[in-house]
Amino acid sequence: MTVRRYPDPDALAHAAADDLDAIVREAVAARGTCSIALSGGGTPKRMFQVLAERGRAALPWHQIELWWGDERTVSADHPDSNYGMALHSLIEPLGIDPARVHRMHGEDDPVAAAAAYEQTLVTACGLPPVLDLVLLGLGPDGHTASLFPGSPALTEPEHFVVANPVDSPLAGGQTMRITFTARTINAARKVRFVISGGDKAEALAGILEGPKARYPAQLIENADLVWLVDDDAASRLPREGS
Ligand code: 6PG
Repeated sequence: MTVRRYPDPDALAHAAADDLDAIVREAVAARGTCSIALSGGGTPKRMFQVLAERGRAALPWHQIELWWGDERTVSADHPDSNYGMALHSLIEPLGIDPARVHRMHGEDDPVAAAAAYEQTLVTACGLPPVLDLVLLGLGPDGHTASLFPGSPALTEPEHFVVANPVDSPLAGGQTMRITFTARTINAARKVRFVISGGDKAEALAGILEGPKARYPAQLIENADLVWLVDDDAASRLPREGS
C-alpha cells in the first residue's frame, strides 16, 4: 500500500498533476494513447486547474481520452455535474477536442445511460475495459466513485458501469448515480486516490489500517494503487517511521 502525504491541498494537487503527467507519458510512449477516468466531487478541481495552468503543450492532449468514473443524474450544465466541473476547469481552458471527451449522460435515463457508457467503454478499452489511469476520491463514509455503503453496485458481479440507487446525505439523500463498478477500477493499469480534508481522516485510517470489508473503497485492489493524501486527510494515520 503506497501512501504519499502532502502538507496541504495545493501541494496535493500539484503532486497529483505531476503523477498524472508521468503516467500519460508512459502510456503514450508504450501505446500511443492514454485513457484516464476522472474523479468527481470537489477535490480534483484544483488538480485540473493546475494541469490547465501548465498549458496545452505540457502534455499530448491529442493522445489522451477522458472518461469519468461516476456521474450524478443531472444535466451537463448543472452545478453538481462532474463533467461540468472538468469542462470548466480543464477541458475548455485546454481546448481539448470534444471527440476525446466521453462523458456519462446524467441527463438521460440512468439505466440506459450506464448501459450505453459501458458499451462505449468496452468498445474503446476492451473486455474487460482496461484504462491507463482511474482517479478516485474518497467520501467521509468511505465511498469512492459512486460506490456508496449498502448500494447494489458494491456487489455487481458482471457489469462495468451501472446505475446505482444511493441513499446518503453525502449524495443529497435518495438519488441515482452512474458509476464504474469495482471490477472496472481494478482492471485499470493504475489507480490513484487523491484525498483532501480532515473529514476523510477516520475513513482513510479505517481503510488503510482497519479490518477489511468495512468501507466501499476497500473493494479497490489494483496492482498499481497509490494513495495521494494531504496531511489533514492523513491526520489519523500513524506518522512515517512510528
Ligand atoms: C462524486 C465523486 C465522489 C467523490 C467523493 C469525495 O461524484 O461525488 O466521485 O466519490 O470523489 O465524494 O468528494 P470531495 O472531493 O468533494 O470531498
